[in-house]
Amino acid sequence: MLNHRFVSIAALFLSLVFLSGNFAAQPNYDESKVPNYILPDPLTMQYGRKVTTPEQWTKERRPELLKLFEEHMFGKATLFRTGNTVFKTRFEYLSSKPVYDGKGIQHQFQIVWYRDNDEHRVDVLAYVPKSEKKVPAFIGLNFMGNHTVYTDPDIRIPIIWDRSKGTCAPGKENDRGLQAHRWTVPLFLERGYALVTAYYCNIEPDFNGGYRHGVRRFLYKEGEKQKPDEANTIATWAWGLSEMLDAIEHFQDKLGIDPTKMAVNGHSRLGKTALWAGAIDQRFAMVISNDSGLGGAALIRRRFGAPVQVLPEQFPHWCCENLNSRFGKSNPDVVSLPIDAHQLIALSAPRPVYIASATEDLWADPKGEFLSAFHADPVYRLLGTNGIGGVTEMPPPDQSVGGIIRYHVRTGKHDIVEFDWKNYCDFADKYLK
Ligand code: GCU
Repeated sequence: MLNHRFVSIAALFLSLVFLSGNFAAQPNYDESKVPNYILPDPLTMQYGRKVTTPEQWTKERRPELLKLFEEHMFGKATLFRTGNTVFKTRFEYLSSKPVYDGKGIQHQFQIVWYRDNDEHRVDVLAYVPKSEKKVPAFIGLNFMGNHTVYTDPDIRIPIIWDRSKGTCAPGKENDRGLQAHRWTVPLFLERGYALVTAYYCNIEPDFNGGYRHGVRRFLYKEGEKQKPDEANTIATWAWGLSEMLDAIEHFQDKLGIDPTKMAVNGHSRLGKTALWAGAIDQRFAMVISNDSGLGGAALIRRRFGAPVQVLPEQFPHWCCENLNSRFGKSNPDVVSLPIDAHQLIALSAPRPVYIASATEDLWADPKGEFLSAFHADPVYRLLGTNGIGGVTEMPPPDQSVGGIIRYHVRTGKHDIVEFDWKNYCDFADKYLK
């Protein structure tokens, strides 16, 4: 009798959990479980007209796709646009010093967003090789604080946010250079590139509700919520990258960096951010996505690796609410989504774009990342470039392939390491020098 009652209560509970969609969805690592899918055509307008000229792409389809990505994925950053902001921006230069045996200069400056008596400061760190002319640069956000990028004792240490707990504490002296393997400063200096970086949580902390502690606190009153299609954290980080580019334009003579030759890059969630930054701000001359996965370079419709529910369940603050309500179900509607990752990549066209994966990073779906690069090719070709350079198959590990759309899958785990950067430098040698 007791057993019986237990079984029916358990069944009731399970069906309630199922109906509410409130259970952890499982990743798929089985290629045979990838559903048949039809990708939305980047060169067909929403209502069916074909896009056959570069003008149509630039004037009609590109703006339409941008709007679709705003509405369904990253949200509109209307409140950030010039003329709409309730806060102002200024740039403050802090310091410089020679580093790496005098082969480069380390610069620090700040972006200051302010409103009335309140201000929010972001520390930017830059390394610039010695050069007669202004140099091209890689620009990207870092995960652990500027002081982890290189060992120098003068790099300003930020307040570090613990993304799982939503708490913060001053960064540690001991962590200087902790991420140096990810930010190969000597390599950039030797190859003639500058590096510009800032701590992503300094723009806005990475947890649900983190916007109260970043620049968006200027935009919303206590308790006020974003609209379902309004920008969330990824869009805020992406906008922060554009602000960093504004600062580079402002300080270009002092820094010796050419703001027209900036490659925006990012790893993982910051790779999603780099792709979106490159899409909305065409001043970025090159776009690099490293292991960006779901919501970045991986085709959503493949349903391989991370389940789409991960976005609303674990990271509801990344994308807009429209995406969270679509994906936050036991059986999410992915098929009617008017966008997919190949179109996000196509929004960088005709600029050089590099998509990279890692063999052990199945969560991010390396094959799906390759395929989206491949399916962005028609747009690049319409715009008169060589696109993915005739590549039709995913290359073996550690081989960089393609044309102005380039791809590699590195042997190893979810990370960004010297192998990746060497390839990004080779690619930049071709298009930014
Ligand atoms: C999670 C998330 C990924 C993301 C990664 C990261 O694994 O599911 O989409 O890329 O975190 O940013 O580290």
